[in-house]
Amino acid sequence: MSLLKRIEGATLAPPAPAYPVAPPPAPVPPPPVGGGAGTPVAPPPPAHAPAAPTANPFGGGAGQPPRGQAPGANNQAVEAQRGLKQRVKMKLVSELDPTMDTSKSDEVRQKLKSLFDQIIDQENMVLTKLEKERLFEELAADVIGFGPIEPLLQDPTVSEVMINGPKKIFVERKGKVVLSEVQFDDDEHVRRIIDRIVSPLGRHVDESSPICDARLPDGSRVNIVIPPISLVGPAVTIRKFSKEKLKVDDLIRFGSMTPEIAEFLKACVVARLNIVISGGTGSGKTTLLNVISNFIPDDERIISIEDSAELQISKEHWIRMETRPPNVEGTGAITATDCVKATLRMRPERVIIGECRGKEALDMLQAMNTGHDGSLTTGHANTPRDMLARLETMVLMAGMDLPVRAIREQISSAVDMVIQQSRMRDGSRKITYITEVQGMEGEKVTLQDIFTFEQEAFENGKVIGKIKPTGVRPKFMPKIEDAGIVIPPSVFGISGGFF
Ligand SMILES: Nc1ncnc2c1ncn2[C@@H]1O[C@H](COP(=O)(O)OP(=O)(O)OP(=O)(O)O)[C@@H](O)[C@H]1O
Ligand SMILES: [Mg+2]
Repeated sequence: MSLLKRIEGATLAPPAPAYPVAPPPAPVPPPPVGGGAGTPVAPPPPAHAPAAPTANPFGGGAGQPPRGQAPGANNQAVEAQRGLKQRVKMKLVSELDPTMDTSKSDEVRQKLKSLFDQIIDQENMVLTKLEKERLFEELAADVIGFGPIEPLLQDPTVSEVMINGPKKIFVERKGKVVLSEVQFDDDEHVRRIIDRIVSPLGRHVDESSPICDARLPDGSRVNIVIPPISLVGPAVTIRKFSKEKLKVDDLIRFGSMTPEIAEFLKACVVARLNIVISGGTGSGKTTLLNVISNFIPDDERIISIEDSAELQISKEHWIRMETRPPNVEGTGAITATDCVKATLRMRPERVIIGECRGKEALDMLQAMNTGHDGSLTTGHANTPRDMLARLETMVLMAGMDLPVRAIREQISSAVDMVIQQSRMRDGSRKITYITEVQGMEGEKVTLQDIFTFEQEAFENGKVIGKIKPTGVRPKFMPKIEDAGIVIPPSVFGISGGFF
């Protein structure tokens, strides 16, 4: 994109919004007489609430006027600063070389800085050093970065950025989600940053396609939902890509698992068990999948399929595939099912499916049942049993009209183990169940917990507890022994010698 176009995009508000602003919320009906717990009355959505004034428009303040200052005075100050910012932007537009290549961000930044300094001098603007720095960073972020969220994207302590409309931007730091001080000017400002994210990918977000998955150039995963589907203005969720993926030692250090559990999981992977990692959103499923995928022996051919390539497996013989959403005409999609089918003709020794969400589950189960053991995947569910129920539903989505019993039989013979990963109240992530899928009893799949997390206390905002063995030896142990791996019975809480 040319620099001029970028700056204009960042500066000149288009005459009409690219998508219509959602109409004001419908009046809330009065609560029904005697409405009990089952009939909650939703508060009116805070859609497009007027902007809270910021204490410092350059830094995005907490929305409070300085002590002793009337809110009106603060508003005026905000307006004055905004006008100033706008003027400086306009000057930059007129003075920068429009043919400059924005991909050379260092060069553009230097040029911007010298022009910016000139303009500030010419206009005799009185700004403190800090204000000047902030104003420059804001302008630079609007022109060559991702606007107000740029500092959050650069901040290594932030793992997730959640834009809930222009004025509420939450971040996750150390597992805790908190409201940040950063704000956008308005919906349109967010929209311009969304365009900046999606247009290099050849995608488009508008009223007719208001939901989009995308990626930042650094690999961060982005989900976008705009009005009229989002009722709070444009909503953007960014899972930041960390170059340094968490390793097994990190998970042990964080208390997500113990060294014994790590050894046990390694044994299960080497012995080619089929494993499903289950958990809620953001519970650490992909991270755990990444960790256990790295237990796969070096000489095995791995093929992975993901909707958004997140895995980092340090193995030579690894082929990565990424599904493709449909193009603007609604065609050209390559689904996970397509990829699984292709995979089976590529001589995989291990198939890893980043996440099972739909009918690819059937193909995956069939692969697991037909010689592609040692496959790994994840899925959204709150307990191991729920995970199996979800798999059942996903298989039904494939529309093969299979009897439920047949599906359950397929699941029970394909899946050896479910690992449940949870995000705890204190923001930490832990393995809460390791459960064996043992077989069928009548119509039901039989499950046996091997390890469960027991919470002992909640102290100083921290979950205290341990993952403990249940005292049951898994039925799949012969597979582990066949792989030449010895696990002492004490790992399972059984006293006595070796098996
Ligand atoms: N064991 C852990 N301890 C601390 N932080 C973790 C742990 N596992 C994952 N995280 C962090 O939690 C965030 C979410 O992790 P991850 O992407 O693995 O979750 P997920 O369950 O796959 O999410 P989604 O459902 O959105 O795909 C990341 O920022 C990651 O670094
Ligand atoms: Mg994930």
